[in-house]
Order: sequence, then structure tokens, then C-alpha cells
Amino acid sequence: MPASDPNPSQPQAPLATARRRAPLGLLAELTHRCPLQCPYCSNPLQLEGAGAELDTAAWQDVMRQAAELGVLQLHLSGGEPTVRRDLEDIVATAAAAGLYTNLITAGVLLDRARLEALARHGLDHVQLSIQDVEPGNADRIAHYEGAHARKRALAGWVRELDLALTINAPVHRQNLDRLEGIVDFALEVGARRLEVAHVQYYAWALQNRAALMPTRAQVERSARLVEEARKRLEGILLIDFVVPDYYAARPKPCMGGWGRGIVVVTPSGKVLPCHAAQTIPGLAFDNVREKPLASIWLDGDAFEKFRGTGWMIGPCRGCERREIDWGGCRCQALALAGDAAAADPACAKSPRHAALVAIAEREANEPAPPFVYRRPRRQEGSDPSPTR
Ligand code: SF4
Ligand code: FES
Repeated sequence: MPASDPNPSQPQAPLATARRRAPLGLLAELTHRCPLQCPYCSNPLQLEGAGAELDTAAWQDVMRQAAELGVLQLHLSGGEPTVRRDLEDIVATAAAAGLYTNLITAGVLLDRARLEALARHGLDHVQLSIQDVEPGNADRIAHYEGAHARKRALAGWVRELDLALTINAPVHRQNLDRLEGIVDFALEVGARRLEVAHVQYYAWALQNRAALMPTRAQVERSARLVEEARKRLEGILLIDFVVPDYYAARPKPCMGGWGRGIVVVTPSGKVLPCHAAQTIPGLAFDNVREKPLASIWLDGDAFEKFRGTGWMIGPCRGCERREIDWGGCRCQALALAGDAAAADPACAKSPRHAALVAIAEREANEPAPPFVYRRPRRQEGSDPSPTR
């Protein structure tokens, strides 16, 4: 994606400009409702309610606009997207518009018939999250009785229906010691891709940081195991590995860079550069109810604020990595350094990096406190009711 117009003397229609700089992916948070309560959930602490959600026609319009803009991949997310009764209609519209459709699901509300219907309507891929491979611990972390058994069943149906399957495994101090089992689980259920993602500490994960923070020894062991599994399973299982920020020397390019690769639409239609952007005070977010997606992506205040490198201060401004990691994560810089324009404290060049490492070392070596959850453990029959 070019950073500047390669031929500035030629006038360009706004949509043509937008297409040249289009995001690769749209993350559509169809709803914040979810039967699970993972203690590292990236949804905001203040969720958007069901009454505020975009209706079917509005989401279908977003899908068409995204395809027109040049988006290639649609990630249907939440909350739990299968809570929406109109998911089939949304998938059908997206598929007809030419988007590759990926359902990001916790997997506990789907039965085989509904999955089959989604496949019939054009679903391409399922990304199933797991909490652990030891069922008791998995259900405890998800705060949902019987979750793991339902996920295993869903994985079987995904393969029977010949849909592509990715297993997403957020890892932390309370499940990392079973990483070999997580790799085995992905193989057993026929996934072609496994994401081993160390928890990133935003939103609920920041609330539960001390309960989730792994020790340095756990992190180093996980890196060795992933490396070994990648070699052993080459051509069988692709393994992505997200390292934990607090033990890194350089930050990750969060979202591939602000306003570069991914656009997020919240349940109520707000358009964000990342899922946690609303934690940054002073940013104004446009809504698809009021403006076209392309113009928000191209010119929206929130996107322009941290796009590229012009906003950077030291040490990022003069750094040779500024167009590699884009200064790391703006939301983490705000949460830990108090300034969204500061270098991400995950970077060793940040003056706050040593304090960050000290937090990690201290919390990981103290007994884990109990998880903080949004609500009491789920009782039978208390799943959110499908709507729309
Ligand atoms: Fe990245 Fe900024 Fe650190 Fe350089 S100083 S490596 S640009 S976060
Ligand atoms: Fe917002 Fe990283 S989560 S920039």
C-alpha cells in the first residue's frame, strides 16, 4: 500500500484513492453479547448493548461498501457473532460481494444444522477459540460449563463440512504448561492453522494481568516449543506465534500499523482503527450510519491522528524501525505511559520499558489472584437470546 500518491498530478476520484489504500481486512464486531467471559477479552469494559446494534440492512450495506473499498477479508466477530439470528443474511451478502468470510467464534452456540446453513450461504473459514485442552480448566477460564466439549464437537462439524479451520489459543500462565496438548488438539481436529497468541494486556486482560502474566521461563519454553512444532509439522499445520509484549525488546506493529491494514466496525457502527481505540481520549469516531466507510477510512480524524509517522515523537521519530513496527501500540502507550503518542513501553528504547519488565517479573512470580469476571458464572439456559 503506497504511503503517498505515486502520480499526484492526476486528479483521483475519492473511491479510486480509497481503493489504492484499502485495508486488507474488515473486523465486523456484530455484537458485544457473548455467553463466555474470557478474562482476557479485548472488548471494551463498557459494552455496547443489543439495542444499539446495527440492523441487518445496515450491516449488509457495510459489507458492500467494504468490498467496493477494496477490502478482501471479512472477520465476523463480537462478542459472539452467532448470537445474531441474521448472520446467514450478512454472510450471504458478504460472499456475494466477493469477500472472503471468516467466522471468529467461541463455538458454544452453534449446532451442525446452523453451521451447515452458514456454509450454504457462503462462509469460507471458521476460527475457533479455545481456552485450554484440559476441559475443567478450559471451562473455568471461559466461565462456562461444558464449553470445551461443545468446541470439540464444532471443530468436527467444520471439517465434515469442508470449511477451513483455524484454532486460536490465547496463552497465559494458567494454560501455557499444556502448550504441547494445544498443538495436539489442533492436529486432532484437523485445523490447518493454529494461532498461539500470548495474551496482550488491554481491556479485560489489563484488569486480570496479574492472574495471566506468565513467567519468563514459561515464555521462553513456549517459544522453543513453537519453533520445534513448526519444523516438525511443516506442510501440515501452520503455527502463528504472538509473543508477549512485556518480555519483548521491540513491540509488535499493532494492527499492522494504525489505519494501514485493518478497519474495525463496532456493533453500533462506529469505525475504529483498532478495537481498543476508544480508550484514547480526544479521538472522534465516525459512524457508518452517518458517513461512507471509504471517506471515514481515508479522512476520518481518528484514522489520520496516528497514521504514518508524522505524529511521532522521540524515540520513535528518529528510529530506523518506525516504518516496521509503527511505534507499537497506541492504546498500550496510553495505558502504560499516559500518552498515546509515546513509544510503546514494550520497546526497549522507551524510558518506561524497565518498569514494564519489572511489573511482569513481579506479577508472574506472585500467586495468581482470582480472575475478575463481568458477571457470575453462566447457569444452564442463560445464553444470550439470538436476535435480529
Ligand atoms: Fe519502534 Fe518506536 Fe521502539 Fe523504534 S523507538 S523500535 S519505532 S517503538
Ligand atoms: Fe489500539 Fe494497539 S490496541 S493500537
